[in-house]
Amino acid sequence: MDSPALWDRFQKHLCSVPSLDLTLDVSRMNFADDYFAAMAPRIDAAYREMAELEKGAVANADENRMVGHYWLRNPQLAPSPEITDEIEASVAQIEAFAADVHAGKIKPPAAERFTQVLSIGIGGSALGPMFAADALTRVGEDKMQISFVDNTDPDGIARTLAKLEGRLDETLCIVITKSGGTPDTRNGMMVVRRAFEAAGLDFSKHVVAVTMAGSHMDQLASEEGWLERFPMFDWVGGRTSELSAVGLLPAALQGVDIESMLSGAAACDEVTRSTQTAENPSALLALMWYHATGGKGLKDMVVLPYKDRLLLLSRYLQQLVMESLGKRLDRDGHRVDQGIAVYGNKGSTDQHAYVQQLRDGVNNFFVTFIHVLVAGHDSVEVEPGVTAGDYLNGFQIGTRAALFGNDRESMTVTVRTVDARTIGVLIALFERAVGLYGTLVNINAYNQPGVEAGKKAAADVLELQNGLCRALTDAPQSARALATAIDAADQVETAYLLLEHLAANDRIAQLVGDTPSETTYSLK
Ligand code: PA5
Repeated sequence: MDSPALWDRFQKHLCSVPSLDLTLDVSRMNFADDYFAAMAPRIDAAYREMAELEKGAVANADENRMVGHYWLRNPQLAPSPEITDEIEASVAQIEAFAADVHAGKIKPPAAERFTQVLSIGIGGSALGPMFAADALTRVGEDKMQISFVDNTDPDGIARTLAKLEGRLDETLCIVITKSGGTPDTRNGMMVVRRAFEAAGLDFSKHVVAVTMAGSHMDQLASEEGWLERFPMFDWVGGRTSELSAVGLLPAALQGVDIESMLSGAAACDEVTRSTQTAENPSALLALMWYHATGGKGLKDMVVLPYKDRLLLLSRYLQQLVMESLGKRLDRDGHRVDQGIAVYGNKGSTDQHAYVQQLRDGVNNFFVTFIHVLVAGHDSVEVEPGVTAGDYLNGFQIGTRAALFGNDRESMTVTVRTVDARTIGVLIALFERAVGLYGTLVNINAYNQPGVEAGKKAAADVLELQNGLCRALTDAPQSARALATAIDAADQVETAYLLLEHLAANDRIAQLVGDTPSETTYSLK
């Protein structure tokens, strides 16, 4: 039942931005009447910091870096003419390259044209491109078909390559890695390269790199004479790189109008630069996150787009929010264990899965509905006067009401349609919300020490594996004996796990004992 009071609250708190074809409804969040006034000093401080960041302040102090993703869609904002030129040159390079590939001017040695794109990257070098590709694909109309390798899973890579079987000669690979040193991406590239070699194809004539100038991958691409090298900039973080060459190149090759993506993001930036909180949807999002989670991540964010094309928005936002906000220390060095957990998939599908718990179970979340007004391809009446799109719409509105009726909070972002401009708008909307929230809770939203620690830990584990392999002999030895032989007796459990992996993959021999300590390993 819609009470008059709720209808008033809806109208009072509806942030409507006609220039973006976007509205944000926060009326189903239970903040108090004086909430915005109470938070004004804090959000004002966040606006000031954001303005400094956009002017080129070293906002990522831990890495001594500027944070410039907003310049990508408005290069004139960049703090130096050199940066402006770099951005403009990179977009021009992408557009010229894509046009030449589409026209067959840049072509593979053994086929008429490149028809397939295989993008190899991980994390911030994959999630944005995957989200945009899935959201904007037009089956039968895309200029090139795009696939992704985003993991060092050999079986996963083989599965992707199998889909390209018979078409490798028409496949253009993009290796995307800002740092140029991420092992997962290097591995993906090497496995894919081997497939090209096995097919008798010269990989270097099928591959381009998106990476920082001078990185390891850049050097390799230069040495091997890859088709092209596109820049990634030091001042753009991985998870905010979708509107750099990282996202623009795959999108342009697919045939997406990248100028619309950029102009959508620029228009959203214009709106969300406002210091009038009621008119600024990014600020409202950040303030709602703060309200819902107590500024301490006490509740999870469930992202529920009612549109199949936006399925990967949840995964994209999961990284953007959790990698940015999930921090152990605040900017003063105090232990805070910050973050907001994000998960989601799509409606109405999820109403047949975990939405049961959202409606009736533990109240540890708030929902962000993404509602798309234009249903698209909705001419079939499934009942007299009722379409499938009517159902989708009805399910979204009904779920919002049911959640609120059971004291569950939600917000709704409504966009008109899913096109390149909308994707740019959504990316910019959430990027700025994350930045503002980072200031509200006083953390550096632009570093990722946990990701770096994970990379280091994996390197240490592989070093241990190499040591164990060297210590193996024809005589069976336990994990403890092998670990001790290489001065790693304090890592016996890790040694055991590594040896089990090697044995399961037929790389070493194993005699299974009654317990892990009694199991022994030897050379095959
Ligand atoms: O957002 C980030 O910084 C990370 O997720 C990186 O994008 C990811 O680790 C991949 O790094 P790179 O692009 O350097 O290969």
